[in-house]
Amino acid sequence: MDGRQPAAAASGVEYGSVATTPKRALVTGITGQDGSYLAECLLGLGYEVHGLVRRSSTFGTQRIEHLYRDIHDEHRPLVLHHGDMADGSGLARLVRAIRPDEVYNLAAQSHVRVSFDQPAYTADVTGLGALRLLEAIRDCQETSGRGIRFYQASSSEMFGTAAESPQRETTPFHPRSPYGAAKVYAHCITVNYRESYGLHASCGILFNHESPRRGETFVTRKITRAAARIKVGLQQKLYLGNLDARRDWGFAGDYVEAMRLMLQQPEADDYVVATGETHSVREFCEQAFGRLGLDFRDFVAIDPRYFRPAEVDLLQGCAEKARARLGWRPRVSFSELVAMMVDADVELAERERALVAMGHAAFPQHGQSGPSRP
Ligand code: NAP
Ligand code: GDD
Repeated sequence: MDGRQPAAAASGVEYGSVATTPKRALVTGITGQDGSYLAECLLGLGYEVHGLVRRSSTFGTQRIEHLYRDIHDEHRPLVLHHGDMADGSGLARLVRAIRPDEVYNLAAQSHVRVSFDQPAYTADVTGLGALRLLEAIRDCQETSGRGIRFYQASSSEMFGTAAESPQRETTPFHPRSPYGAAKVYAHCITVNYRESYGLHASCGILFNHESPRRGETFVTRKITRAAARIKVGLQQKLYLGNLDARRDWGFAGDYVEAMRLMLQQPEADDYVVATGETHSVREFCEQAFGRLGLDFRDFVAIDPRYFRPAEVDLLQGCAEKARARLGWRPRVSFSELVAMMVDADVELAERERALVAMGHAAFPQHGQSGPSRP
């Protein structure tokens, strides 16, 4: 059997028609940047969306607040469930109960620098978490006879010190972090389940993608947030690590569309999703501060604590396959992305300044207390 084919013929599993609506999707990592954009996209297309949320002592659902309806509403297209990628039996129970048509696995300990501090945890959640979900899907498919399509959030971090640039689907992996190694495992086990059991399981090898909803410890958002706070007088300096690293940065809202398109294909496969352009962290600083009429060199200082034990110097992707087979292409350019993020952070900083003027504390900044900002 061709490993790329769904196992319909071999196992008697039937996949729902691509045109059937409403479809039911389960999204892990729904509270993250991508999860929130993907949920918006799927709800807009009439999907019933189920999201996995881990229990926390504080609310972590800010990014999807605008999508959520009261639990007492009878017809809620978005339903949240407690669960954790470390809990295989919980995942299996959830998949059996929801019986989704599509599963998007976005949950991960996704911070590269943090993965050096928490390598075993990262391997468990980011690597083995994917295996637990695949097992849950395989079991559910076998007992119900209904096909479940699976998306794995693979990463350009898997390429690490790649031998070629731009990187494409065939470029060998050479991860440079525990996070990258965990993603390689999750990627390979997804391919293996496709080849072994005929699961309709696809991997999107996504290059860095950002937005105003990006976590504040990733470099782009750290820069735009700081530039805006400096502009309104709430901050004096920004400490960064390696300014020479180069990334292929796109807009998260564009990239979640590629995830969905992958699961609408008759055959599962792997796709690079990227803009094809690469820029340094220094260039990002220049544009972000420049938009506010500031020279980043007056405000940015280097703190070696932000250097990584091993660095990925250059990422640049070739998304020709996604363009040809999925009809996907990025819509937001690099300078539009920087502008979008800076403008959103200026609005946030102005609200923060107004609160400070009324005697409230400034919004918490990672690194001012607790673990240092990665
Ligand atoms: P993110 O903002 O960090 O979101 C990660 C999500 O995973 C959050 O919802 C988080 O929940 C959840 N999560 C973490 N640990 C979990 C656990 N043990 N059990 C259940 N959920 C858990 O990441 P993102 O930028 O949206 O990225 C989405 C996925 O794409 C990730 O797998 C990431 O590694 C991958 N990826 C991202 C990029 C990128 O540039 N953004 C590029 C390539 C691949 P909490 O909200 O509770 O923390
Ligand atoms: N976070 C951070 N903080 N990065 C910094 C800093 C800093 O103060 N200073 C320089 N950098 C450099 C990092 O060393 C890295 O080379 C680059 O900026 C980008 O760092 P991040 O924004 O943290 O992203 P990443 O490329 O390590 O990882 C992101 O992209 C991957 C896809 O390639 C994450 O979203 C991963 O989850 C994703 O898989």
